[in-house]
Amino acid sequence: MKIIPEEVAKDVLNMKKAIATVRDAYWACSRGEMFQGDRIVQNLGTEKNIGQWLTAICTGQPYFGFKFSAVFPDNPKSGMPTDQSTISLFSNENGKQLALIGANYLTALKTGAAAGVATDLLARKDASRLGIVGTGVQAFTQALAMQEVRELTEVRLFDMSEERMDAFINRLEPVKNRDYVIVKCSSGNEAAEQSDIICTATPSKTPVLDANAIQSGTHLNAIGSFARNMQETASETAAKAAFIVTEHVDGLWASGTGDIMEPLEAGLISKEKVLGSVGDILTGKLAGRTDDDQITMYESVGSCVLDLAIAIAVYESGCCMQND
Ligand SMILES: NC(=O)c1ccc[n+]([C@@H]2O[C@H](COP(=O)([O-])OP(=O)(O)OC[C@H]3O[C@@H](n4cnc5c(N)ncnc54)[C@H](O)[C@@H]3O)[C@@H](O)[C@H]2O)c1
Repeated sequence: MKIIPEEVAKDVLNMKKAIATVRDAYWACSRGEMFQGDRIVQNLGTEKNIGQWLTAICTGQPYFGFKFSAVFPDNPKSGMPTDQSTISLFSNENGKQLALIGANYLTALKTGAAAGVATDLLARKDASRLGIVGTGVQAFTQALAMQEVRELTEVRLFDMSEERMDAFINRLEPVKNRDYVIVKCSSGNEAAEQSDIICTATPSKTPVLDANAIQSGTHLNAIGSFARNMQETASETAAKAAFIVTEHVDGLWASGTGDIMEPLEAGLISKEKVLGSVGDILTGKLAGRTDDDQITMYESVGSCVLDLAIAIAVYESGCCMQND
């Protein structure tokens, strides 16, 4: 088995390559060459610490695998990331474990790349102002992905921690791919109101912005909430959206994310509001945005197919450190 530690894995793929890898994985799914298996979500002895076991299988390539992701919301207090993830990659020819990959950064890279694919397909072509709520690990790769798929002129940020906003700006400034301005805002609404693309990337249990802060024509990536007791977007948001897409529709319903379940249970939307997957738009099965005034929404709860695709790209790069 090859061990690919975090420090090695994080330098293998850049965002452009990650976006291409996610796109290819959606095409592979549409051909039935990759599929998502079951998902287990389990509290790890306390309500707030959650473990997720996500599985995916290839038929077009000799792999299957799972990601274990532990979410410990208090970790940042001791300087550790909230999410602790590893990906186990196996041979689907003999079941042997091929690699164990440190996947904290890969998870963020994949989540950013997946939002990048969704945004490229759904945001208005002239979208140039990005609003980000939450400025942690995931938010950073959201910014990297958004700058790949649209010509940004402005990035508007809000986080409940001023310190985290400053750290985010210090990290983003040197890797900006064009000379856009970065503006600190005093609320989620202020970040959203003048944005064409909004990314929410927090573990919040209560909405981080109001539905009426989202202007006509906006594309929204809500990537933080993955369980029933988490909700980043106000319930009216889903109702205002022309439609909602996700990575994998069954996975979305299995997660029970509050972003969707709250408005569903309140009778504000029907199940059909979740139109399908990003892959359905990519492959032309669904139309996507049909009008510049529509609000489009990508609700992301994680997808092991995309994690597996990224892990395979890293494994096949030959960067491995150690063999058994
Ligand atoms: N969709 C996916 O595939 C996927 C993948 C990985 C992580 N996630 C989820 O994304 C969320 C963010 O993860 P992360 O790794 O970036 O965490 P993080 O701790 O690095 O960052 C979260 C940031 O959100 C801020 N925040 C929290 N509540 C807020 C609020 N109400 N308003 C404004 N800011 C607020 C925090 O101050 C922090 O800076 C988590 O819930 C995580 O589980 C989703």
